[in-house]
Amino acid sequence: MRVVLGVGGGIAAYKSAELVRALQQRGHDVQVVMTRAAREFIQPLTFAALTGRKVITDLFSQSGGEDTLSSAVEHIAVAHENEVLVVAPATADLLARFSHGLADDFLTTLYLAFEGKVVLAPAMNSAMWEHAATKTNLGILQQRGHVIIEPEEGWLACGTLGAGRLPDPVRIAEQVDSITRRKRDLTGESILITAGPTQEALDPVRYISNRSSGKMGYAIAHAAAERGARVVLVSGPVSIPAPHNVEVIHVRTAQEMRKAVFDHLEETSIIIKSAAVADYYMANVPQQKLKKTATRLSLELDPTPDILAEAGQRKGDRLLIGFAAETENLVEEARRKMISKHCDMLVANLVNRDGLGFDADQNEVDIILPSGQAVHAGPADKKDIAERILDQVATLRLHLRAVEKPA
Ligand SMILES: Cc1cc2nc3c(=O)[nH]c(=O)nc-3n(C[C@H](O)[C@H](O)[C@H](O)COP(=O)(O)O)c2cc1C
Repeated sequence: MRVVLGVGGGIAAYKSAELVRALQQRGHDVQVVMTRAAREFIQPLTFAALTGRKVITDLFSQSGGEDTLSSAVEHIAVAHENEVLVVAPATADLLARFSHGLADDFLTTLYLAFEGKVVLAPAMNSAMWEHAATKTNLGILQQRGHVIIEPEEGWLACGTLGAGRLPDPVRIAEQVDSITRRKRDLTGESILITAGPTQEALDPVRYISNRSSGKMGYAIAHAAAERGARVVLVSGPVSIPAPHNVEVIHVRTAQEMRKAVFDHLEETSIIIKSAAVADYYMANVPQQKLKKTATRLSLELDPTPDILAEAGQRKGDRLLIGFAAETENLVEEARRKMISKHCDMLVANLVNRDGLGFDADQNEVDIILPSGQAVHAGPADKKDIAERILDQVATLRLHLRAVEKPA
């Protein structure tokens, strides 16, 4: 893989030479770009000797000579020729300039022109790392889908103990490796994912809902986009940021979620219904706020549309993956639901355990396959569970394509 290594002006710049070696040892072809400040800490000659290539240090120095890039617009050429941009050390200054889209030197201009994967390894004094400005900039960069390799705790060059130290170059190279090896097995698929709870109004200020955080559906949406799918995420009200490269449609009620799902059915090849849709709603919501009285309040509720069942009826040759949140008899209930709703696969999780399932970062699931076999996954982070679910989806898709193909 062709990797550009951007070196910022931090005390850890010397470790970037080791990083070049670690990347090369994993078979990557490395082009080094240095900021002006980085050259105060380490000489370009070190990188030129390690890579056998000219080190790029200046936006306006024209290329020339036999070992240089041929394009006059070098930052665009470098952006097109490389698949991964790794910045290590990423200074506080670079994080600020990247997040705000400044393009006042080669590295920041390259960043704006770059369309591949971006990996940032910040390193700085711990007060700089903890500063609100750095945190805000990092949040923006994370939201853009960049991989942040967080600094480690330890003794820093300024003599203080804290977070801010550049991780071991071998660890950074391993992370780059795992990113470049990542599967793109959902390329060409158009996946519609529902996530989060719905809210059903009881009066102008109150509603019934549930404890779904949307984290599982958002993790699946993020992972599916990373694996090459076009993703539409129909999301109930949640408080987590939208994943990068995903079209998000915000809805509030079960009725709105149903409409959004079937409005997009035509262009969808896989439907993953992880939302926790309310089962009941109030058909005639009072115009005025319900008054508190000393007597018991009875509410008349009607069943909400069964989006999963309707999707099962209308899916055609699309894959339909349902979710079941149960508090007992998990696998039996999931198998029953899978058949009754015409799902191709069903992800079942127990939701009455602390730290797992609803509103948690971790999950433990049984993935029910078309054969009825249950594949267990977890307990693990929801992003790992998302990958396991998509592994099964991609395998089923491949299997069905092979069966459909005439001999
Ligand atoms: C001795 C010394 C060490 C520095 N170490 C760091 C550091 O580790 N991380 C950082 O973000 N800035 C560090 N700085 C500040 C940067 O060099 C400064 O913000 C510079 O403008 C960064 O330029 P660049 O982002 O273009 O590389 C250091 C400065 C000095 C003088």
